Amino acid sequence: MDTSGGQASDYYMTLTREHYISQEWFDRDIARVFSRSWLLAGYASQISRPGDFFTFELADTSVVVTRTETGEVAAFHNVCRHRGTRFCAERSGHVKRAFVCRFHGWAYGLDGTLRAAPQMPGDFDRERWPAKPVAVDVWNGLVFINLAQGEITPVSHILRNVDVGIYDLEHTKVAADIELTWPCNWKLISEAFQECYHCRINHPELCQVLIPDSNFDGLQAKPVTDDDDGEFLIFTADRSYAIREGMKTFSLDGDYLVKRLLGSPGNPPTRIAQVDWFPNFQAFLQPDFTHVETFLPVSPIKSVFRASFLVHEDAVEGVDYDVHELTHMYVKTLEQDGALVEAAQRGVSSPAHQPGPFHPVLESAAIEYFKRYERAVRAH
Ligand code: FES
Ligand SMILES: [Fe+2]
Repeated sequence: MDTSGGQASDYYMTLTREHYISQEWFDRDIARVFSRSWLLAGYASQISRPGDFFTFELADTSVVVTRTETGEVAAFHNVCRHRGTRFCAERSGHVKRAFVCRFHGWAYGLDGTLRAAPQMPGDFDRERWPAKPVAVDVWNGLVFINLAQGEITPVSHILRNVDVGIYDLEHTKVAADIELTWPCNWKLISEAFQECYHCRINHPELCQVLIPDSNFDGLQAKPVTDDDDGEFLIFTADRSYAIREGMKTFSLDGDYLVKRLLGSPGNPPTRIAQVDWFPNFQAFLQPDFTHVETFLPVSPIKSVFRASFLVHEDAVEGVDYDVHELTHMYVKTLEQDGALVEAAQRGVSSPAHQPGPFHPVLESAAIEYFKRYERAVRAH
């Protein structure tokens, strides 16, 4: 008996059950996707002074991201070169000059160099034992790290045609950060966030702004670079074709939620732009605020989702914006998405699950995304 539903070969198919539940696929995804990609770790505005830091966690890996004494952003593994202890315990904070390992007091400077190794023999060469560096790149105030070794193409090169200068993200601050733990494999989040086929029946608030199923051709994934780097990258400078008439931003009534707009006072942006980048970056840039979404795998059936809301650094909370109002529509949408990905995980975990057909137009971005995923997991 044919249980495939017929016509399967005409359609690009979703993944198998094992992709969503097995430790083997989880380990492969960490090694071949997340350990070889630029991942958003945070925002330069969160480490504005030398000694400010935050950590970035992916599976067993922890990375410290700091502002050095000379003002650069540095990143290094949170692993002591003595006996491996995680020497920075907090998720964010400030240190004066160094991170001091709690075990035996080895101290790492803001650039990761080993500054002190108490009571080690006089000829001990500290220069040989810095914290291991991690590639870091700052793009428009967004801090990306890459766990890959060797030569890595800089973010600025990959995103060279993504011009979001008018939003002046370098002069923004994080007005709200939402972190959610969802009981699902990370690829179910990718699937849900690369299509709006589900929006009409699940996101009534979002659909007050978006026209569901509207000309999605404009959203089809296509490289924006001159030469095809094989990246999954969407840059839509103007999403007005998918926005209801008169809606200026993502709010319930379409009016601005932040009085101080992004950009320079005389030249604020007027459009809504979108950037999507493999494997876990999505940003909606509006005239009054920017909303960035990212997520990371925690286990085969657990992921952490993070949504950040960036407003102009001069915008004053309680005067120019209200955090509850700013986040309200997205919080609603994320509650709805959280329920969807949880239900999806339950379904794909069943032995009865078989790959199903993507909609060729409404899910075209998801198709391109998973083609990129297949290239990543095949590569050695
Ligand atoms: S393990 Fe860090 S100082 Fe010994
Ligand atoms: Fe959704």
